[in-house]
Amino acid sequence: MHVVRERLDMQVTAARLHGAGHRIGFVPTMGALHAGHLSLLEHVRDCDRTVVSIFVNPTQFGPGEDLERYPRDLEGDCERLQAAGCDIVFAPTPEDMYRDAARTRVVVEELKDVLCGASRPGHFTGVATVVAKLFHIVQPHVAVFGQKDAQQALVLQRMVDDLDFGVELRVAPIVRDPDGLALSSRNAYLDASERAEALLLHESLRHAQALLEGGERDAESVRTAMRTVLARGPALQIDYVDLVETTTLRSLQHLEGRVLVAVAAVVGRTRLIDNVVLDVQAHAVRETSLDAPRRGANPGRTNATT
Ligand code: PAJ
Repeated sequence: MHVVRERLDMQVTAARLHGAGHRIGFVPTMGALHAGHLSLLEHVRDCDRTVVSIFVNPTQFGPGEDLERYPRDLEGDCERLQAAGCDIVFAPTPEDMYRDAARTRVVVEELKDVLCGASRPGHFTGVATVVAKLFHIVQPHVAVFGQKDAQQALVLQRMVDDLDFGVELRVAPIVRDPDGLALSSRNAYLDASERAEALLLHESLRHAQALLEGGERDAESVRTAMRTVLARGPALQIDYVDLVETTTLRSLQHLEGRVLVAVAAVVGRTRLIDNVVLDVQAHAVRETSLDAPRRGANPGRTNATT
């Protein structure tokens, strides 16, 4: 496994791989890697080379957020990636990624303002901008993102479609601890009692699913019921609870078709998110994935030899 620290080195490496006719599979991360991150590698196994980037991107953190205390462990991450069969780690410095004169941003209108975007202004512009830069540096054929950050995946799919990136995006399922807590680098901040309250996020999603399975189709009733579950946590403050359409992220009133049920809350000082995607039919409700309708829809970048 190679560790590349400089942007220009990565661009040269990517150009060589393209020249050799290799397909590049890419997993962007901010490091502090857990099993959820590592699972993403399984979704690019069909590529010839895998690149994982580790970069705690300052422009997606707002004032007062956890940029300084965000966990960093490059050495441990490299060991985990080597064991997971990664070929190249790209770990640039903020100075190399953002030169003084940088003035350009990628703004994904509307999708950036709702759900997490409402309480994190600028976040999705920071994400879209850094991922656009990473795509230009790593030149992937395929990139994979976790459904854990469902809004992020949808914002980036919109960016790729709108700006003709020619990269195939895949969305991988959420990896959870056995008790249901979605894995997150930020779980490291939780003490034992906060962790117990954090489980309420998943419980509220399961409750929503059970209500739908029981025939409930009114979104507001489901939101209210989810809030009641979350209210059992004294250290938990709800950011949002919503049931939205899976491409526009518009809030739904009547539940039918594919529905993203999303929740965000602050437990103690730690902001956590979770979601489930449900396929709601007249007499049946089943869990599905954000990726389901897109699989095969966008062939992505192709190269001459494949
Ligand atoms: P980060 O939070 O490190 O997450 C990297 C990738 O891992 C994202 O696609 C995220 O959705 C996925 N992921 C995190 N937890 C997961 C879980 N429990 N199961 C499955 N996938 C999971 O998301 C970012 O970094 C950044 O915003 C980034 C895209 C790298 C841009 O800076």
